[in-house]
Amino acid sequence: MNTGEKLTWKAIGIFDSGVGGLTVLREIVKVMPQEDTIYLGDTARVPYGTKSPETVIRFARQITSFLVSRDIKLLVVACNTASAVSLEVLKEEFPIPIVGVIEPGAARAATVTRSGRVGVIGTAGTIRSSAYTKAIKRINPDIEVITGECPMFVPLAEEGWVDNEVARLTAEIYLRHLKEQGVDTLVLGCTHYPLLKGIIGEVMGEGVTLVDSAAETATRVRDILAGEGALRPEQENGNHHFFVTDVPAGFIRIGNRFLGGDFGDVYQIRLDDDHPAQGGT
Ligand code: DGL
Repeated sequence: MNTGEKLTWKAIGIFDSGVGGLTVLREIVKVMPQEDTIYLGDTARVPYGTKSPETVIRFARQITSFLVSRDIKLLVVACNTASAVSLEVLKEEFPIPIVGVIEPGAARAATVTRSGRVGVIGTAGTIRSSAYTKAIKRINPDIEVITGECPMFVPLAEEGWVDNEVARLTAEIYLRHLKEQGVDTLVLGCTHYPLLKGIIGEVMGEGVTLVDSAAETATRVRDILAGEGALRPEQENGNHHFFVTDVPAGFIRIGNRFLGGDFGDVYQIRLDDDHPAQGGT
């Protein structure tokens, strides 16, 4: 087996602060059902969206060490907050292709906007990092980017409250200023927001295109692997492995909603600086 062929058979690693990144996994499986994946949800330390960049970078390093030790061929940082603050550090420190969710979502938004007014919603960590604004402006400096923190969308999505009155009212309050600013494109810059796509779309109105970073990221991953000749043959069926840092029960219960299907085994591991990965054999 030559090196290219060996790479083909390795898994894609994906990590998130918890269950949210399963929306990214779902899109990856949709466009590359033949690929094996290893998913890590840092359920013991979620949420990342309210934590400092220093803390999120430390967690991201530990998780990447764990996944790289599992011999993955590419890493997807599915968490928007972790992508926003740690992607550059991870790319410098780990010798594998690493894809975040910010750049693919930003590129799509810059392509679809007609008015040049783009909205971005995300966690406090993501919005305060300005990562989406910088990424969109790198592509087209003339685009006006209007941002909004929507922290309550995360618990609403986890509760499954995605189409009731509480969700609608929350969306109306959070999205009011983006509507007033006349954006024609809105980036769903958080793993959880695709679950609220219906209500966000209704509140924003018909003329606004919603950009789902998860779907854009999956396409980007496929393009990178295809470019490296590292995609598995299409007739294969991928296996999916799951690791979490808290007991698996909650992850499985809420995760079923995100993944829209059944899990295989979910293993609990412990991560820390001295012992990057323990357990989960
Ligand atoms: N996964 C996070 C994100 O996409 C949302 C949940 C959290 O705050 O950890 O930003």
